[in-house]
Amino acid sequence: MQYILGIESSCDDTSAAVVDQRGVLLSNVIASQKVHENYGGVVPELASRAHQQNIVPVVSEAIRQAGISCGNISAIAFTRGPGLPGSLHVGTSFAKGLALALDVPLVDVNHLHGHVLAHFIKEDENTPVPDFPFLCLLISGGNSQIVLVKSPNDMQILGQTIDDAAGEAFDKCAKVMGLPYPGGPVIDSLAAQGDSSRFKFAKPHIPDLNYSFSGLKTSFLYTLRDALKTDPQFIENNKADLAASLQKTIVDILMDKFAKAVKATAVKTIAISGGVSANSAVRDVVADYARRHHLKAFIPKRVFTTDNAAMIAVAGLYKFLNKEFCDITAPPFSRVHI
Ligand code: KG4
Repeated sequence: MQYILGIESSCDDTSAAVVDQRGVLLSNVIASQKVHENYGGVVPELASRAHQQNIVPVVSEAIRQAGISCGNISAIAFTRGPGLPGSLHVGTSFAKGLALALDVPLVDVNHLHGHVLAHFIKEDENTPVPDFPFLCLLISGGNSQIVLVKSPNDMQILGQTIDDAAGEAFDKCAKVMGLPYPGGPVIDSLAAQGDSSRFKFAKPHIPDLNYSFSGLKTSFLYTLRDALKTDPQFIENNKADLAASLQKTIVDILMDKFAKAVKATAVKTIAISGGVSANSAVRDVVADYARRHHLKAFIPKRVFTTDNAAMIAVAGLYKFLNKEFCDITAPPFSRVHI
């Protein structure tokens, strides 16, 4: 049996995972960095320092939990980008050093491919995986994209955000409400008790399959600013309704373009991935859309929505099987290219 060790360090989670040659997950260890909570966002310098502290124990634990030893590892897959440069450097350097020491191939993984291929992480040999081609709505803190997935190593971006990502819209609006970082999950739980039709916020009118969330952010900010002039307790008294209305607007924006892309491509299978795919409303609306249009829908387990090395190991496995290796001198890249 061959084993792939995956390493993820693109933002504020240090993670390592092991999959076998069938894509079956043997371990997935994630050390999240609590240090950023006090700052209302990820502080790059603190993130890279925390990665340095975490990387050795996290990788050792992933190998231990997989029940293998270093000598069993066939290749090392690592997130090469996009992400924070300092954070990426820690995972990249560690992966290179270990690959040299173990004399095994190195496989570089695009973090966004990893999110899409999270649907190929198997619990056992019989875990169902999407058929190709499928359409994936990739929504995270840094990206919002509609991706046509033709094969594990062939993806085409059909549309993407021209400004903020969906996760940023959640996080920045939550910050305006005085909620803790990251705001997405907090909005999600507040929204469960709120009336989503109570407030209306601006939706973008931009062409093609692209997204924009900056107008919504401004409209949300202005609504609060105007209401606070007459009622200083406005946010406190309307928290749940604000969260529910914001969440509904974001989901409407996402689904409008995604549905257009499904029609244009005539795919039979759809999927969602990335941190925002943990959102309850996104999951419900996509599952409902698939039911009504007789499509297969792949909704990831919540543990595989946010950053994790299991998805990097699986994405690395497909490149490994294709003999697509990476040179030891390959530097990390911080900007998006798919
Ligand atoms: O994929 P991810 O962990 O990191 C990036 O690669 O960006 O995504 C993080 C984003 C954050 O913006 C966070 O607020 C959002 O995912 N998020 C959610 C939920 N859980 C995480 N947004 C809405 N609802 C959630 N339940």
